[in-house]
Amino acid sequence: MNISSSKPIDSNVTSGENKSFWTASTLPIVFEKLNQNIETDILIVGGGISGLTTAYCLLKAGRKITLVEDGYIGSGETGRTTAHITCALDDRYFELEKIFGKEKAMLAANSHMAAIQFIANTVKHENIDCDFKRVPGYLFLSGSDTKETLEKEYAATKNAGLLTEMLEQVPALESEKEKWCIKFPDQGQFHIMKYLRGLALAILDMGGNIYTETKAEEISKEGAKANGFKIKAKHIVVATNTPVNDWVAMHTKQWAYRTYVIAAKIPKGILPYALWWDSGNKNSKWIAAPYHYVRLHELDKDFDLLISGGEDHKVGQADDENIPEEERYTKLIDWTKKRFPAMENLEYKWSGQVMEPIDSMAFIGKNPGDENIYIITGDSGNGITHGTLGGIILTDIITGKENPWVDIYSPSRTTIKTAGDYLHEAGNMVAQYADWVTKGDVKDADELKPGQGGIISSGLKKIAAYRDEHNNLHTCTAVCPHLGAILQWNAEEKSFDCPAHGSRFTPKGQVINGPAITDLKIIDVKEELETNKI
Ligand SMILES: Cc1cc2nc3c(=O)[nH]c(=O)nc-3n(C[C@H](O)[C@H](O)[C@H](O)COP(=O)(O)OP(=O)(O)OC[C@H]3O[C@@H](n4cnc5c(N)ncnc54)[C@H](O)[C@@H]3O)c2cc1C
Ligand code: FES
Repeated sequence: MNISSSKPIDSNVTSGENKSFWTASTLPIVFEKLNQNIETDILIVGGGISGLTTAYCLLKAGRKITLVEDGYIGSGETGRTTAHITCALDDRYFELEKIFGKEKAMLAANSHMAAIQFIANTVKHENIDCDFKRVPGYLFLSGSDTKETLEKEYAATKNAGLLTEMLEQVPALESEKEKWCIKFPDQGQFHIMKYLRGLALAILDMGGNIYTETKAEEISKEGAKANGFKIKAKHIVVATNTPVNDWVAMHTKQWAYRTYVIAAKIPKGILPYALWWDSGNKNSKWIAAPYHYVRLHELDKDFDLLISGGEDHKVGQADDENIPEEERYTKLIDWTKKRFPAMENLEYKWSGQVMEPIDSMAFIGKNPGDENIYIITGDSGNGITHGTLGGIILTDIITGKENPWVDIYSPSRTTIKTAGDYLHEAGNMVAQYADWVTKGDVKDADELKPGQGGIISSGLKKIAAYRDEHNNLHTCTAVCPHLGAILQWNAEEKSFDCPAHGSRFTPKGQVINGPAITDLKIIDVKEELETNKI
């Protein structure tokens, strides 16, 4: 089967308007759509790193799988990653020690190191040409942080058995010369879409079935429906980044954040290949303090691409800090230029979504209350290793093999980070429903220029309105079909985003990210005009 499409594919190659370097520099990975009823041993829903790794591991263990993806392979958050492959957890080991104790923090460190090694082995074994490299990573202090953070983290990484070192300077960063950092040796980086392509080919080779443009609906313990056909399965793995099989339980244990990336040319040889992270903005209003993450990727014989990310905020809440989406890119460019002054013109910019779990650890295992439905979610900024671990752990659970990490990642665990954090985030979720009584951000549909969207109040209704490039107006309800919060317009990715649990919709109302599973209801403008002027 030919897995790359050379035909132009429209907007849903990725989950937003802006294309990442990874998807822009490779052909879309496309399979046939499901067009008949099928029966399979294990159904995997989702074609990102979590779904594909799970398929790969299960096939290696001798099981039969079918994977369905509603877009194309990598068209979710995996195609928008920055692909640092690291055990330097963005929620810090000293926090893990506090929540789970030293032994479990050590298990977490082992698991991420094992995930890095798994990727290195798979690249070698499957001969995947994906620019994989072993690189060091450097965690340095942000301007708002103190050395105590690094000291605590250094001690905790040592307790966890990692071979970290404390350095007096941050390698290659002129502006951070006087600052201490922690070096994490033997980390990794790759071109994510090339890696996914390699995994997909290996899956086909081992007899796995993959269908794209195939959306799983009505997921149950018997299987699912897709494209009007039945998929019967003994086990169902929901690897959709945010679960789409559960209405409430998991969505009170994690929060969706939007994070931004810029990529600019930089002359080759100026910087070594490495990963850099700052320790996060301690003055931020968000519980998951935004941090910056930087790496290089080969571009051509003269240039590398400097890829820098950060400036996160809770989904649909960019304006809460009076920093709209576009300004986040400007801030990111300024921050990066200051530390990497040799960077040249901007080549790419994109944003994506990460799920921040309440207690820092991903959720991998049986969906609470289900015997044969499994989930991989709560990726945090470490979704490449978490997604890889998802494949390893679920394969062991399904095949009945002992695995030391099952308990620490169990979605049914009851650990709660701190009551303060929990209440703050829960309170933030509830506050989003206040938008029901506030005005929309656009007074009148006439205000919208082609390519613009916004929320209009019409009587008691809230309308998600979008004017397309041909000046046609599209109107849907602005009420999220998940649990009824009011959507916000994301001008950068041209989507309507839900500030409560992170569901997202195209300008015309098609669902892109769960937990919502249905599209927005279309509103007839003529009818609306007769009752309320919009
Ligand atoms: C900007 C950014 C930078 C990041 N940087 C890093 C990094 O440097 N290192 C790191 O470790 N992590 C990073 N992450 C996190 C990491 O990239 C993600 O956590 C990870 O890629 C998620 O993979 P996934 O397979 O779980 O989800 P996804 O890639 O989102 O895959 C889920 C798939 O499920 C599909 N789907 C959804 N519903 C259905 C349905 N009903 N039927 C069929 N298919 C469905 C979607 O279309 C999607 O393709 C970053 C994330 C972002 C956004
Ligand atoms: S995602 Fe839960 S209300 Fe919108």
